[in-house]
Amino acid sequence: TRTSDVEDLPHATKKRMADHLRRLEMMFTLTPQRMRIIVEAFKDTLELGLSKHGQVVPMIPTYVFGWPSGSETGNYLAVDLGGTNLRVCLVTLNGGGKFEITQAKYRLTEEQKQEDAGNMKTDETYSLGFTFSYPCSQDRIDHGTLIRWTKGFGAPNTEGHNVVEMFRSSLQKYSVPAEITALTCDTTGTLIASHYVNPNTKIACIFGTGCNAAYMEKVKDISKISHLGIGEDMEMAINCEWGAFDSFEHEHLPRTKYDIQIDETSNKPGEQAFEKLISGRYLGEILRLIICELIDEGVIFLGQNTYKIEIIYSFDTAFLSLMESDPTDELLMIIGIFTHFFALETTLAERQFFKALAKLVGRRAARLSACGIAAIVSKMGYLEEGCAVGADGSLYNKYPGFADRIHEGLIDIFGDKGRNVITYHAEDGSGIGSAIVAAMTKIRKDSGIY
Ligand code: GLC
Repeated sequence: TRTSDVEDLPHATKKRMADHLRRLEMMFTLTPQRMRIIVEAFKDTLELGLSKHGQVVPMIPTYVFGWPSGSETGNYLAVDLGGTNLRVCLVTLNGGGKFEITQAKYRLTEEQKQEDAGNMKTDETYSLGFTFSYPCSQDRIDHGTLIRWTKGFGAPNTEGHNVVEMFRSSLQKYSVPAEITALTCDTTGTLIASHYVNPNTKIACIFGTGCNAAYMEKVKDISKISHLGIGEDMEMAINCEWGAFDSFEHEHLPRTKYDIQIDETSNKPGEQAFEKLISGRYLGEILRLIICELIDEGVIFLGQNTYKIEIIYSFDTAFLSLMESDPTDELLMIIGIFTHFFALETTLAERQFFKALAKLVGRRAARLSACGIAAIVSKMGYLEEGCAVGADGSLYNKYPGFADRIHEGLIDIFGDKGRNVITYHAEDGSGIGSAIVAAMTKIRKDSGIY
C-alpha cells in the first residue's frame, strides 16, 4: 500500500491530536510581553558578564581591537575547527573589502599524519588564523584557554588548556610553515568579515549546531579588564557566548518538559540553556521527544514498529526544515522522511500535525534568537540609528523563514522600530573573518602595538 492510501484516522484520534496541538501551542508560543521580559533579563546578564570574570555568560574580550579598515591585504591561512570537519582556507585579501578564498575540507587520515612534511614549500611562512568555535578565555589574541566544551563535544584533556599551544605544537611536529597569529571564535570572525564588506554591520550571530553572538564594545565599558590600562577610547570585539544564558538557574527561559529532558540527558546538564532551545543540534531532538510521547500515549503510529524513531538524536533538525517547506497537498516530503528514515507509515492528518509541530519548535527558536539580538541592540542603543546583523549557520541559511521570524520577533519586541534591525547572510567568518583578524594582528605587531 502507498502511505497516502492508509485508511485515515478515526475521528476520536484526530480529536486527541488536535487537543495535543493546542496544548503544545501554549507551551511553545512566546508572547511579545514575555519576549520583552526575557530581553530585559538578557541585557542585565550581558552587563554582568562585562563587569565580572567567571559569569554564566562570559562576555569574552577577544583582543580584536576595532573594525577592519577594509584595506588589509595579503595571503593568510585560516584553519577552522568548528564542527566535524577541519577546513583549511587560503585567503587573499585584496583591500577595498575584496578577497579571494580557496578552501578544502579535511577528515584527516592516519597516512596524512605521517606524510613527509619536508616536501612542503617553506619559502613563505603564512600567518594563520585559527577559528575554534568554543568558549575560550583570552588574555591576548594568540592565546585561549578552553572554558568548557559545548555542542555535545567532550574530548578529555582539553578544558582548561591553551588550545593555541596545543595546535602550535602539532604544527611544529609536522613542520607546517605557518605561524598562528590569532585565535577567533566563528562569531568574532563573522563580525569582522561582515563588517569588511558591509560597514553597517554591528553585530554577528551564528545559528547553526550552536548559537552565539559577537559585537564591538567600548573598552571603557568592559570594566572587568579596566586594570589592563588599554586605551579607554578603543573598541574591542566581545564574544558573548550567549548560548549559556540562563544556565543552571533556569529562571528566565520558558523551558518545556522536553527541553528539560534534553538538558538532563545531555553530557553537560544545566549548561548552554539558551542554546539548547535554539540551535540545530537540539531542535530535531525536541520534536522527536514530542513524537515519542504521543507514541507512548497511543495517539500516533498505532500498531507500527517505532524502534527507529525511539533512538536518541535520530531526528535530524534538517527534517524540520524539510517538513516546514513541503509544498505538496499530500505532504509527500514528510511521507518520504518517515518511510525512508524511520520505516513508519503516516496518514495525512498525522503529517499535517507534524508540520504544525515543526513550525512551533522552529518559530520559538527564531523568536528567542530575536530576544538575544534585541538585548544587544538595546544595550548598545542601536535601535534609533538602526543596525545590520551579519548571521550565519545552517539554521539561519537553510531553515525556511528563520530570518523572517527573527524580524517579526524584533517588531514584537520593539514595535515598528524593530524594522531598523536587519539580519542578513554574512560572509564566511570562520575563513575570511579569521584571516582578516590575522591581518589586523600582523599590522598591529608590525607597527609595534601589541
Ligand atoms: C557554541 C560555542 C560558541 C560558538 C557557537 C556557534 O555556542 O560555544 O563558541 O560560537 O556554538 O558555533
